[in-house]
Amino acid sequence: MVKIVFVGSSERRTKADLLITGCFSGQDLDRALLALEPEFSMGAKTAVKRHRFSGKFGETLASFGLKFREASEAMLLGLGPRDKFFKLCARKTAGNLVKAVRERKAGRVRILLESFVSPEVSKESLADLFTETILLGTYDFRKYKRSADAEPQQPIIFEFMVSRERDCAPLKRISEKARKTADGVIFARDLVNEPANVVNPQTLAAAARKMCKAEGIQCRVLGIKEMEKLKMGGILGVSQGSLTPPALILMEYGKKFASRGTVCLIGKGVTFDTGGLSLKPAGGMEKMKYDMAGSAAVLGALKASASLGLKRHIVGLVPAVENNISNNPQRPGDIIRMFNGKTVEVLNTDAEGRLILADALAFSERFKPGMIVDIATLTGMCAATFADQAIGLMGTDSDLVEKVKAAGQESGERCWELPLWDEYRPLIQGKQSDLKNIGGSNGGTITAGMFLKEFVPAKTPWAHLDIAGTAWCETARHDCLFGSTGVGVRLFLKLLSQKD
Ligand code: BES
Ligand code: MN
Ligand code: ZN
Repeated sequence: MVKIVFVGSSERRTKADLLITGCFSGQDLDRALLALEPEFSMGAKTAVKRHRFSGKFGETLASFGLKFREASEAMLLGLGPRDKFFKLCARKTAGNLVKAVRERKAGRVRILLESFVSPEVSKESLADLFTETILLGTYDFRKYKRSADAEPQQPIIFEFMVSRERDCAPLKRISEKARKTADGVIFARDLVNEPANVVNPQTLAAAARKMCKAEGIQCRVLGIKEMEKLKMGGILGVSQGSLTPPALILMEYGKKFASRGTVCLIGKGVTFDTGGLSLKPAGGMEKMKYDMAGSAAVLGALKASASLGLKRHIVGLVPAVENNISNNPQRPGDIIRMFNGKTVEVLNTDAEGRLILADALAFSERFKPGMIVDIATLTGMCAATFADQAIGLMGTDSDLVEKVKAAGQESGERCWELPLWDEYRPLIQGKQSDLKNIGGSNGGTITAGMFLKEFVPAKTPWAHLDIAGTAWCETARHDCLFGSTGVGVRLFLKLLSQKD
C-alpha cells in the first residue's frame, strides 16, 4: 500500500524515516538544505566533500552521521546536469527513489519536491511522473505467495514537501489523476501476471464485464455461436483446438463524444499460446501466458479513460482465444475464410495472433472508426530487434503514426517505426489462397504487419503496435520489478488525451 501526500514546508510534521533531496551535478547544495535544517545542511556538506559526491545521475549519498530532527536518515540523490534532466530522467529518478526506500524498508519518506525541478520538468510534471512511477515501481504480484498472507506489506507514505503550502492542492489533484493512470496499468498487469489456468477467454471476458460495470462502460461479449454466424474464420480457426470457447469482447465508452471521431483499440487476447500443432519448444513456453498483454492494455486503457472522464468515444475490441491442441485443432495447411471474405492458408499455427486480429480489425468497420490502433505480442522477431526497449510501430497513415510516436515519447513507452512497403506484399501472397499467414524467414515483424493491413477497413487510419519485447520485464527497472509491464496503457492514455 502506497500513500502519496503533499505538505508545505511550514506545516507541522512527524519525523520521517528517510529524507530525500535531489541534487544536480555542480549545484550548490547550501540553499536547499539550509532552509530545512542547519544540522542537516552541515552534515551534508561534510559528507559531500568526504565522499566526493558529485551529483552524477543515479549517484546516492546517505547517512551523514548526524542526528536530524526531520528524519532518522537523509539521502542525496544525484540527478546529473540540470539542463539535461528530462521527463524520462524524472521517471528513472522516481525508480531510484523507490529502490532506496525499499532497501531501507522505510515507512515514511519525505521528499523535497522542488529540488528535482529542471527547465524541462516542472513541479506539476514531477507530481505526475513521480506518482505514476512510484505506484508502478512498488507493484508486486504476490497473491499466490503464502508469505503475502502471513505478513501484510507495511504501508509506505511518500510525503512530497514544497515550500508554499498553497501549491499542495493543485499538485494533489495532478497526483490523483496519475494514480488513475497507474490503476489502469496495474489492472492490465494483474490480468497478464495471472497464469493461463486462471485467465482464459471466458474468465477474461468476465473480468472485462466486471470492470466495465464498475466504470460505466458498455460491454458485450460475442460467443462462439455469434462468431459462427458472422463467419469469423480467423478467431474460430485458432480457437478450434481449445476446450475453452473463444470470446469477442466489445466495449464502448463515451459515445456522446463521437463527434470528435471514434477511436478503436484492438488487443490480442491469446490467453495461452502453445503454438498449436506447430508446437513451440518447451523452454520458455510458460511465458506465453503473456500473449494476452495487448488485450490487457486495451482493458486498462478503457478503465483509466473512464475513471479520468476523457472526452473521447473509445471502442475496445478484444478477440480472446487459447491457442492449444485438443482432438481437433487447426492443422498446418488448413485454408480458412476470414470475416472479410479473404482466404488464408495457415502454414504455421503459431502465427495465430494475426488471424484473430484480422477478424477483429475487419469487424471494427461497423463502429465507423476515425482511427484504429491494434496492440499485440505478435512476433518474436520484434523482441529480437528491439529487446525490451521499443514497441514496434507500423501504420498506414503518417499523421496517426506521428501521433502514436509522440504519445510513446510522452508516456515513456517509446515506439520505433518499421515500414509497410508494397514491396513486402509478395511475401504473404498465398498459392492456393488469397494470403498465407507467414512470410519468409526474414522481416517477420513487418510481414505480420503487412498481413494485418489486408484487413483494415478501407480509408481508415490504422497503426499497429508490436509489444512482444516490451510486455514482459525480466530484470527490475525503474517502473517495474518483474513480470507484466502493462505496456500500452500509458501510451494509449497520452494518445487519447492529445488535442486534435
Ligand atoms: N505470441 C507469439 C509471439 C511472441 C514470441 C511474443 C515471443 C512474445 C515473445 C506469436 O504468436 C508467435 O508465435 N509468432 C511467431 C510467428 C512465426 C510463426 C511466423 C514467432 O514470432 O515465432
Ligand atoms: Mn504464436
Ligand atoms: Zn501468439
